[in-house]
Amino acid sequence: MSLTVLSVASEVYPLVKTGGLADVTGALPGALTAEGIAMRSLLPGYPAVLRRLGPAETALDLGPLFGGGARLLAARAEGLDLFVIDAPHLYGREGNPYAGPDGQDWPDNPQRFAALGQVAARLGQGALPGFRPDVVHAHDWQAGLAPAYLHYAEGRRPGTVMTVHNLAFQGQCDAGLLATLGLPPQAYSIDGVEYYGSIGFLKAGLRLADRITTVSPSYAAEILTEAGGMGLAGLLRDRRAVLHGILNGIDTGVWDPTADPHLPSPFGAATLAARGDSRQALRARMGLDDDASALVVGIVSRLSWQKGMDAVLEALPALLGHGMRLAVLGTGDRALEDGFAEAGRAHPGRIGLHLGYDEGLAHLMQGGCDALLVPSRFEPCGLTQLCALRYGALPVVARAGGLADTVIDANEMALAAGVGTGVQFAAATRDALEAALGRVAALWRDRAAWARLQANAMGSDVGWSRPARHYAALYRAAARG
Ligand code: ADP
Ligand code: GLC
Repeated sequence: MSLTVLSVASEVYPLVKTGGLADVTGALPGALTAEGIAMRSLLPGYPAVLRRLGPAETALDLGPLFGGGARLLAARAEGLDLFVIDAPHLYGREGNPYAGPDGQDWPDNPQRFAALGQVAARLGQGALPGFRPDVVHAHDWQAGLAPAYLHYAEGRRPGTVMTVHNLAFQGQCDAGLLATLGLPPQAYSIDGVEYYGSIGFLKAGLRLADRITTVSPSYAAEILTEAGGMGLAGLLRDRRAVLHGILNGIDTGVWDPTADPHLPSPFGAATLAARGDSRQALRARMGLDDDASALVVGIVSRLSWQKGMDAVLEALPALLGHGMRLAVLGTGDRALEDGFAEAGRAHPGRIGLHLGYDEGLAHLMQGGCDALLVPSRFEPCGLTQLCALRYGALPVVARAGGLADTVIDANEMALAAGVGTGVQFAAATRDALEAALGRVAALWRDRAAWARLQANAMGSDVGWSRPARHYAALYRAAARG
């Protein structure tokens, strides 16, 4: 049976991306085709999105939408079937989709993302002739009201799925906005959108969607605990029967070391010697000295508390003490950026930095570093360790969420069985990180063993086919007759 699914998200790669959410919403539609699922993606018409769309037809006049006129554009772009909300009064702002140039969230974010949810609900109910989705799939808080609008709507509605990519971002607003957002009075209850005296966008989706998913089985378990649940553990425990953890994949067309335009030479598991060119290019690009025997540890990350970057700064003496080099590509918290910049100045040639966002350099990092460090305090799934596996950089990861589920620790038993693909450590603390670096240094000394781990890593199944089968089964279960 073929199904039609409407995906609703505020980011879709390559049109607009601030993190892994975009990678997921950009890759899943293509992978679902093989499962007989036709996915169309609804997203806001930020200027960057409209520029990449090219000519698009007006599919629907949306009428007044939170203070201005709006229309729905339909287009096929970047291999995706897109619906874009063209509403300049809400989305016609350059730069980051959520915040202004001063770094502050836009004050009308509740309206901006309620609009996304409301248009999704209208499409779900058949507002566009000829388009009747069987399932509406909402991603993260920005789309969290879509299941709520559908829940309170009259008449036939499609099945709904709410996916949480990161429970730390919940989207709350003042309860006084209830009517403004077009929610009925009865929605303001503990079984509706109410959340500790406010309106909770993610809370609403988690409470009112038919099914809930998150992006790894381990994270699905962690969010049921008080520490991992971030205020929502009780609700999630109540709904555990409909909560599923489905691992992310990566787009193996975008991330393919045998045909990657960002690498100086292509390489694969059978042509690993050519990887040396990427190592060399990365060392040059990052200003690292030319010692080919020194292990290069890479970091490609938001620089934040979640990602454990403060612990990396604390463990720098140990890292350098092992003779390793560090290459960092990241952007984020000012204090962490300053910390890495200062470390770079103190250790020229041994610590190389690019403090910013650079898609091409992210590919060279994966192709050129020997190990990729991901010391997250929590990690719903994580995508960089999947890229690292495919590019033969051994992931060195904290045992959390999707990191725990995707990297096979090269412990003694795994080495004996020949199945290790990286190194796991207990948590993002200085001690645990130092111990992990010690293990990495020991593995590096045995280059034959290292090469076997690299081969295992590169053979890992990190694509979307397997996860897409899980999503397809979930949609079939969620679809209503
Ligand atoms: P999160 O979404 O929590 O930031 P993920 O690992 O799921 O973490 O996804 C991060 C995505 O963003 C990956 O595609 C990664 O390559 C990319 N990325 C992160 N930081 C940078 C950067 N500074 N430059 C380029 N790409 C980056
Ligand atoms: C979030 C999570 C990350 C996950 C990504 C895509 O940004 O922090 O772990 O990989 O979403 O699901």
